[in-house]
Amino acid sequence: MKGLVALPILLFFSCFTSSFTTSLAADTIAANQNITDDGKTIVSSGGNYGMGFFSPGNSTKRYFGIWYNKISKGRVVWVANRETPIADKSGVFKVDERGILMLYNQNNSLIWSSNSSRQARNPVAQLLETGNLVVRNVDDNSLENIFWQSFHHPGNTFLPGMKVGRIAPGLDVIISSWKSADDPSPGKYVFVVDPKRLELVVNDNSDLRSRSGPWNGIGFSGLPYLKPDPIYNYTFVFNDEIAYFTYDLFNISVITTLVLYEDGIMNRLTWIDRTNNWIVYASAPADNCDNYNLCGAYGRCNIGTSPACSCLNRFVPKNQAQWQKADWSGGCIRRTPLDCKIGDGFIKYSNVKLPQGNNWMVNISMTTEECRAECLKNCSCMAYANSDLRGKGSGCFIWFDQDLIDIRQYTDDGQDLYIRMAASEAAAANQDQGGSEGNNKVGVVVGSILASLFVVCLGICLFIRKKKKQRKRDATSHGRSRMEQIPENSFPISHQDEDLDLPHYDFTTLAKATNNFSFTNFLGEGGFGPVYKGVFNDGQEIAVKRLSKESRQGLDEFMNEVKCIAQLQHRNLVKLLGYCIQQDEKILIYEYMPKKSLDFYINDQKQSKLLDWPKRIHIINGISRGLLYLHQDSRLRIIHRDLKPSNILLDDEMNPKISDFGMARSFGGNETGANTKRVVGTYGYMSPEYAIDGLFSIKSDVFSFGVLVLEIVSGKRNRGFNHPGHQLNLLGHAWKLFKEGKPLELVDNLVVETCNLTEVMRSIHVGLLCVQHSPEDRPSMSTVVLMLSGEGTLPQPTEPGFFTERKLIDASSSSSKPESCSVNEVTITLIDAR
Ligand SMILES: *[C@@H]1O[C@H](CO)[C@@H](O)[C@H](O)[C@H]1NC(C)=O
Ligand SMILES: *[C@@H]1O[C@H](CO)[C@@H](O)[C@H](O)[C@H]1NC(C)=O
Ligand SMILES: *[C@@H]1O[C@H](CO)[C@@H](O)[C@H](O)[C@H]1NC(C)=O
Ligand SMILES: *[C@@H]1O[C@H](CO)[C@@H](O)[C@H](O)[C@H]1NC(C)=O
Ligand SMILES: *[C@@H]1O[C@H](CO)[C@@H](O)[C@H](O)[C@H]1NC(C)=O
Ligand SMILES: *[C@@H]1O[C@H](CO)[C@@H](O)[C@H](O)[C@H]1NC(C)=O
Ligand SMILES: *[C@@H]1O[C@H](CO)[C@@H](O)[C@H](O)[C@H]1NC(C)=O
Ligand SMILES: *[C@@H]1O[C@H](CO)[C@@H](O)[C@H](O)[C@H]1NC(C)=O
Repeated sequence: MKGLVALPILLFFSCFTSSFTTSLAADTIAANQNITDDGKTIVSSGGNYGMGFFSPGNSTKRYFGIWYNKISKGRVVWVANRETPIADKSGVFKVDERGILMLYNQNNSLIWSSNSSRQARNPVAQLLETGNLVVRNVDDNSLENIFWQSFHHPGNTFLPGMKVGRIAPGLDVIISSWKSADDPSPGKYVFVVDPKRLELVVNDNSDLRSRSGPWNGIGFSGLPYLKPDPIYNYTFVFNDEIAYFTYDLFNISVITTLVLYEDGIMNRLTWIDRTNNWIVYASAPADNCDNYNLCGAYGRCNIGTSPACSCLNRFVPKNQAQWQKADWSGGCIRRTPLDCKIGDGFIKYSNVKLPQGNNWMVNISMTTEECRAECLKNCSCMAYANSDLRGKGSGCFIWFDQDLIDIRQYTDDGQDLYIRMAASEAAAANQDQGGSEGNNKVGVVVGSILASLFVVCLGICLFIRKKKKQRKRDATSHGRSRMEQIPENSFPISHQDEDLDLPHYDFTTLAKATNNFSFTNFLGEGGFGPVYKGVFNDGQEIAVKRLSKESRQGLDEFMNEVKCIAQLQHRNLVKLLGYCIQQDEKILIYEYMPKKSLDFYINDQKQSKLLDWPKRIHIINGISRGLLYLHQDSRLRIIHRDLKPSNILLDDEMNPKISDFGMARSFGGNETGANTKRVVGTYGYMSPEYAIDGLFSIKSDVFSFGVLVLEIVSGKRNRGFNHPGHQLNLLGHAWKLFKEGKPLELVDNLVVETCNLTEVMRSIHVGLLCVQHSPEDRPSMSTVVLMLSGEGTLPQPTEPGFFTERKLIDASSSSSKPESCSVNEVTITLIDAR
């Protein structure tokens, strides 16, 4: 690459400038050449990086450094004279005959110089395409023979390809923050590798501020966001003498780097071409629990609980009074003391960030069993863990420290730690649950068993009733009755135990509240009938859905369905306030949502400004929880079937509420009959198996949810999406960007400033997983909720379903049914008992 670019310049120089003995490219300066502070810069061969004089921030002082050259907001990535600025533009940068880089000011006094133990013969300084400034012999391109390189003397920027840590005996490369945006001299914080504990550390002056936990072959137990990624690979290299961390970009054109900010936070920055701006992609320390030793010995920090600190299971606060005052520094102790003479055991604590060890050892060649045995035989060994999680896990970390500190609890990330416990505790724990004590799973399991028993009981009742209804329908549609097989009295549903306080409203009251269902009160056409805004006499605002007469439902059926819906109560579902039955009128009264539906905001430049990123993620999370409730947590298993922006209503505080849930199920009437009048679902949101084969399941709702997420993130509609560069719809576009390692380009311009990159990345990733072609490849809503909360490894998505759907179907609304689809509603199961 370099050679190709250099060749023409070389020819140019040899033809026209005979005074040069050696001809050089624009990325190189030779001995006795210089760079002065008059706008002259050196540019790397491909143009990625530039080098010269600059003034940082609002400072007028001059520094010599390297910056991103291709982008408008080029960041400085390296500074030579960090602590010795030049007051004016008199600086001169050059390489001397020995290969030493030197910076002079106007009185010719040396401001800064590089250092090398070896002397060069015929040195040149070259700015490489990686941002590394190297000094080498002019005729020797090999990286091994470099005399000096800026990658060994970084400032606050950890560029791809750099190695940070003990890269050779006696050679430690560290990253240090700037004092301020105007002053690149070393600030309070350093980012280093601890070669003994094999971990990454941020130090505040000399105090440990945050640590990653030891390298485990895949990542660090305390850096859950560092995962294999399509953009870069990374590794930690260590042996007795060295220990360093490094990462490389798969595509050197992607602009992303790690910067240690003035506040001690290591941020991963990424440049977004489209918005012409930098964004923070991930940070460490990321939250309170990343603060070193917040919870004391054997305390665990869990960011999801309040307070964040608690004792590990089977440990108790050392000083209860202090602990209750939220002073956790005293930590916890075993509730049953160890007794090595009687014999101890181990308890597995799952999903934790491994503790810090002052007195610990690593042996990468031990098996897990050897590791355990090694720890068991020495009474001062307090814990062990695998040092390499690849495959089934191997290698051995052993802690001899009496107190284990800085343990963090994750739900899905982290790794297993085996802690030495009294034999009686270990035996009890192993009986409880195979020894794992990580997440209070005992309580959860028992709780959910009780809950599911409860649900099963209710579900059976409802299921039976549903079956009865289905049979009635079957009876009509197949012209034969199977009713006699199921005696009427086998449906023990009594009205008493289901009666709910759901008010019945008088038709005249509703007519009055809605101005006689006037056009000016019309809010929109919901499934099954028009919706009107109404106001009761006391001022309460309501939304009134007047079911169309064709919904052909019997009174009993209607009442049963109303009761079912009334039972569905969740903050992310629209609440049913009452109903009305009068003659052939059937009306449902809902809470009124002043902020309209999501539809109103998406694809509308003006309205979508109102949705900053925190609101958007709040909406995404809310929908996911509402849907999880429908699918799993409610007594009934409800499949929505028509999840789309216009069915996501927003209350005053922009809390999303799913509407029309249960409607497809409840008011289908004679399903085959009703469905010839309306297609349930809306193209653009329907999964392939549903739109094509009419098959649906909770996973088809997941598909629609994925489309919603991508729409919310991008601010664009899936249907009617247009891109000058390709024929793909929004799903295809998102997939393309994701595959190319630039998913962030999907993000709505309007939220770039407010967005949290980790959340955005997760949302896009989860969105893509939800729109996978095969239902089996899509996560369930419970997994989705976990994934969105930042837990767990996200599997890599593959090509989504319907990514070129524009070609396939283009029905203009949910009320028309294209011939290409045969929606076989008979095979559809709308509601499952649990
Ligand atoms: C920098 O190089 C130019 C051209 O070789 C030379 O004329 C000038 O004197 C040099 N300046 C300094 C300060 O060395
Ligand atoms: C420079 O000064 C302006 C105005 O005082 C301020 O808004 C800005 O943050 C400063 N920039 C830096 C990098 O200090
Ligand atoms: C360098 O020159 C500046 C002004 O030209 C002067 O103020 C300063 O004292 C000089 N420094 C040395 C070390 O001679
Ligand atoms: C260069 O290195 C030597 C020893 O390796 C050290 O004594 C000297 O201070 C260094 N000079 C600079 C300018 O860093
Ligand atoms: C990343 O992958 C490239 C190409 O496979 C390889 O050359 C490089 O050594 C890898 N870097 C790391 C840090 O694993
Ligand atoms: C690297 O990224 C650039 C810019 O995004 C793109 O044009 C190029 O095709 C990519 N190269 C590879 C090998 O993916
Ligand atoms: C590491 O463990 C292996 C296998 O048990 C053993 O042979 C080796 O001596 C150990 N190495 C050290 C440094 O203790
Ligand atoms: C137990 O381990 C500690 C720390 O490595 C060591 O000092 C001690 O000698 C060991 N004790 C036994 C009995 O092996």
